[in-house]
Amino acid sequence: PTTRYYEWNISQQTIAPDGLERPMLLVNGMFPGPLVEANTGDQIVVKVTNSMVNGTTIHWHGMYQNGTNWMDGTMGVTQCAIPPGQSFTYNYTVANQWGTYWWHAHAASQYIDGIVGPLIIHSPDEPYLDQYDEDIIMMVSDYYHTDSGALVAWYLSADSQGTEPVPDNGLINGLNTFNCSGDANALFPTGFKCSDGAPLASFDFKAGLTYRVRIINSGSFADFQFSIDDHMLTVIEADGIDMQPVAVQRLPIHVAQRYSVLVHANQTVGNYYVRATMNTNCFNTPNPALNPNVQGVIHYEGAPVTQDFNSTDWTTSSWSAICIDLALDMLHPYAAQAAPTPDVSYEINFAFETINQAGINLAYVNNTSWSPLMTDATLFQAQRGVTLFDASQLIVTLNSTNVVELILNNYDEGSHPFHFHGHTFSVLGWGGGSYIPGKTVLELDNPLRRDTITIPSFGWTVVRFVNDNPGLWTLHCHIDWHMEAGLLMQFESLPEQIKKFQIPSELTAMCGAK
Ligand code: C2O
Repeated sequence: PTTRYYEWNISQQTIAPDGLERPMLLVNGMFPGPLVEANTGDQIVVKVTNSMVNGTTIHWHGMYQNGTNWMDGTMGVTQCAIPPGQSFTYNYTVANQWGTYWWHAHAASQYIDGIVGPLIIHSPDEPYLDQYDEDIIMMVSDYYHTDSGALVAWYLSADSQGTEPVPDNGLINGLNTFNCSGDANALFPTGFKCSDGAPLASFDFKAGLTYRVRIINSGSFADFQFSIDDHMLTVIEADGIDMQPVAVQRLPIHVAQRYSVLVHANQTVGNYYVRATMNTNCFNTPNPALNPNVQGVIHYEGAPVTQDFNSTDWTTSSWSAICIDLALDMLHPYAAQAAPTPDVSYEINFAFETINQAGINLAYVNNTSWSPLMTDATLFQAQRGVTLFDASQLIVTLNSTNVVELILNNYDEGSHPFHFHGHTFSVLGWGGGSYIPGKTVLELDNPLRRDTITIPSFGWTVVRFVNDNPGLWTLHCHIDWHMEAGLLMQFESLPEQIKKFQIPSELTAMCGAK
């Protein structure tokens, strides 16, 4: 094992990902931010210097952080924000996991403004290593031209009537074109330039080779249908768990999910479109100026560099975008594991409500709407044995190592991608309406395991996980607008072990520093 050391400086900079200049929040001036890459067993050390005007934290999405919960980077939960002008060094060891992950700011809505990047873990134990020649990362995301803080304020206010801000564009690896004159309503930052014809993300293929394409939805709201013209995608990984291979033409991917697919460069030398199409029918309100068809380019070596594409869109054949994940019976982990038998079961119900007097739109998980604690992280309180009864914190304490079942009930018309920190869960089933135990047959033999699952509109999802990782772990909707509205709860796992944590004093010292 080795140490992977990175130094990051986060600052506001003006760039033009799709041709329109706007101020963004960037790590080392890059968008997407730098790749973090390691082998299982390595230590990852990232010194983060905050050169912005607001406090920040970085979360390593999907890392188990077993024994290092305080490195999870969740503002108000496992740490207080790194104040402007200060640095903090994240330091953790990657054990027992590999695959495709990502990192992002976990403070307010900052990741929407650019603080995101890929995190890839390799292992000699990966089952498909000899089946591909090269690795390609494709980060797919929705994209807003307006600063996220202004959009959050609008979303939570009476003006939005509870409808989420609708993206202005979408990006692949931080690139796309935008029609500068097409959007009469656009809230262009005044004084910023816009140019048509900005380049698309382009990927080089050599005929005959096989590529492992790692698709990451690093957006904040939209789920996508992903496809590559004329090329089949063989899914081999979901959220860091190797899957039995399954070939598809198109892949739905919701916010924060990842897939690896094998793509054979077996077509005529030429140029082919990569398509990431936003499921706009999952939006409450359309944005007429939005082009939901985000494109990238596969360029075969030897093909002319032209605007000529003789490729065919798979997505023109019938395909109903239904705002849910691939069917559960399509994805089975490569390393088969039966669903664990639950010792306890909890019902988690969530919904949105407008507080009429103030006109504020908030989300509730079991009647609690989360907001981050700004003075002292919940973890530090848990370590002192303080049980928080703060009205903004829903914390379920799990005292013993056992198997926990969650019945997640969605009382909202939208579908919601829920992420659980520090774990993968087994996904036993989902459906519409209410879950009636015994009525729906759950997938028990070798269910899908992943860290982010979509809970269907007015529906339910049943998951189970092993409670063996001490710490405070959030379970939340990864639609960033919804997290800002409070769609987050916490599990306090193994409190007796939390009390024994040796939390670095630099971390606790940041509390109250603001
Ligand atoms: Cu991608 Cu709470 O995280």
